[in-house]
Amino acid sequence: MPSYVITGASRGIGFEFLRQLSADNANLVVGLVRDKPTTEAKVAKELPGRNIHIIEGDITDYDGLKKAVAEVAKLTDGVDYLIANAAVVSPWSAYDGIGDLAQSPKELEKDLVESFKVNVVGNIHLFSLFLPLVMKGNAKKVITITSGMADIEFISTYDIAPAAPYSISKAGMNAAVAKFSAQYKKDGILFIGISPGMVDTGHYGNATEEQLAEAVKMVQKFSTYAPFFNGPITPEESVSAILDVITHADIKKGHAGAFVSHYGNKQWL
Ligand SMILES: NC(=O)c1ccc[n+]([C@@H]2O[C@H](COP(=O)([O-])OP(=O)(O)OC[C@H]3O[C@@H](n4cnc5c(N)ncnc54)[C@H](OP(=O)(O)O)[C@@H]3O)[C@@H](O)[C@H]2O)c1
Repeated sequence: MPSYVITGASRGIGFEFLRQLSADNANLVVGLVRDKPTTEAKVAKELPGRNIHIIEGDITDYDGLKKAVAEVAKLTDGVDYLIANAAVVSPWSAYDGIGDLAQSPKELEKDLVESFKVNVVGNIHLFSLFLPLVMKGNAKKVITITSGMADIEFISTYDIAPAAPYSISKAGMNAAVAKFSAQYKKDGILFIGISPGMVDTGHYGNATEEQLAEAVKMVQKFSTYAPFFNGPITPEESVSAILDVITHADIKKGHAGAFVSHYGNKQWL
């Protein structure tokens, strides 16, 4: 029975992983979430009768994560696929350039540290704690959901100024993925970062008119980069594409430590 552990499974792309993976009852699907009762109720309502287990797991809580690993070990001897999807996508820094954010130094520092703590440190602890179970799995694939917003060439060529703390944290995590790969490739573990594309998970729901105007400017740049881009894709489209990339990703094909998109290449949109 293939086993999957997905962090940040309460909503957005993470919940969609639960939905698609649990469509096959032969899969053991484990969602790590911060609010277990709420997600359990959502699963019971939207995905009744599926082979889904919800376990508490805030990735910034090391001892809590240890307990989550122990809970997963009660369900399965090994983890085939660990999907590090949870992240902070900060609304505070999502719209302005780094120089403008720096005019509020305390807030910027808080946002940078929080983004780093969740999106980098949390995932590093997650990987190290789950490694013994991944070693015992068959597939041995550790996937980080990263972002094309962390591609330095893309940022520089198209002047993508907003969301600096987020982009910096995702770029840091891409380096962490490569470091884990460098150490554990010899054990047959594939570490890979996959960007999901621009996905409609409601991030702009609470934006002011001014913020939306900034978002439109960024999307115009996206269209220059990818003239065929016509807006965000659905979580369903994104996860289906990511799962295809995960299936075909292989150390032998050169994917160890790689940073790719939902197309399996460097085309982010
Ligand atoms: N949507 C996009 O366009 C897009 C583009 C590029 C990359 N991505 C990446 O794709 C992934 C999912 O994005 P999304 O749009 O689905 O995000 P989302 O809707 O904001 O959901 C984020 C998820 O992460 C969880 N989370 C946040 N902090 C956590 C913590 N400390 N411990 C455990 N879980 C935590 C949230 O749980 P709570 O419900 O408890 O808050 C939630 O389940 C993220 O890694 C994101 O960076 C998304």
